[in-house]
Amino acid sequence: MSVNTANAKSPPRKLLSLDCSPRRDGACAAMTAAFFEGLPGDFEVARFDAFTQNAEPCDDCRVCFDHNRCKHSDLDEFFAAFENAGIFLIATPVYNMSVPAPAKAVTDRFQRYYNAWKSGVAGDDALIVPQASQKKRAILLTASGSNEPDGARHIAQMLRRLFTVTDTELIACFDVFGTDHKPVDGAVLEDIRRFARTL
Ligand SMILES: Cc1cc2nc3c(=O)[nH]c(=O)nc-3n(C[C@H](O)[C@H](O)[C@H](O)COP(=O)(O)O)c2cc1C
Repeated sequence: MSVNTANAKSPPRKLLSLDCSPRRDGACAAMTAAFFEGLPGDFEVARFDAFTQNAEPCDDCRVCFDHNRCKHSDLDEFFAAFENAGIFLIATPVYNMSVPAPAKAVTDRFQRYYNAWKSGVAGDDALIVPQASQKKRAILLTASGSNEPDGARHIAQMLRRLFTVTDTELIACFDVFGTDHKPVDGAVLEDIRRFARTL
């Protein structure tokens, strides 16, 4: 996890990004770079790399039925950043209709929020994650090697479900296709840049 604090007069807005590709020069990297080029400078950014982190998978131990936490501490910093962030950016390649395995481990670990809500251990905080003062906005960037759209759609659907108990809304998806045959379309990168400027 790396944290970059921008110089700004008012308190910084917070953004957490989850980079899910193992490639530093791939399609997701190009899309993420475009996003950060457009992002206003007053954001405090926390970046989290799924492959580097290699999070423990959820093993359904059910500790989170009785406690508002996970038994594994490896994602404590990530979840604290998630709870504090106003914006959550996820950039992922499509691997067999889903996200790569290390990123899937991260998404499965969100089960702690669902179980806390279901069992009531988080009380009134369960629907609105404690430190978040307003609805969190999520943005999804996907890259598919093929022209098949189902993988990107499936990931968006998975995230919408994941976010139901964390008061988070998936507000935008940018999907690129055919990356096994051509570079990412510059027009899409410009769309991402332009969108990020509006945040
Ligand atoms: C293990 C694996 C599984 C993949 N599965 C799919 C897939 O189901 N559909 C698809 O369109 N592309 C698939 N791809 C291709 C990647 O989505 C594509 O290369 C993408 O651009 C990688 O993004 P990146 O360069 O940002 O890592 C797969 C690639 C790998 C390595």
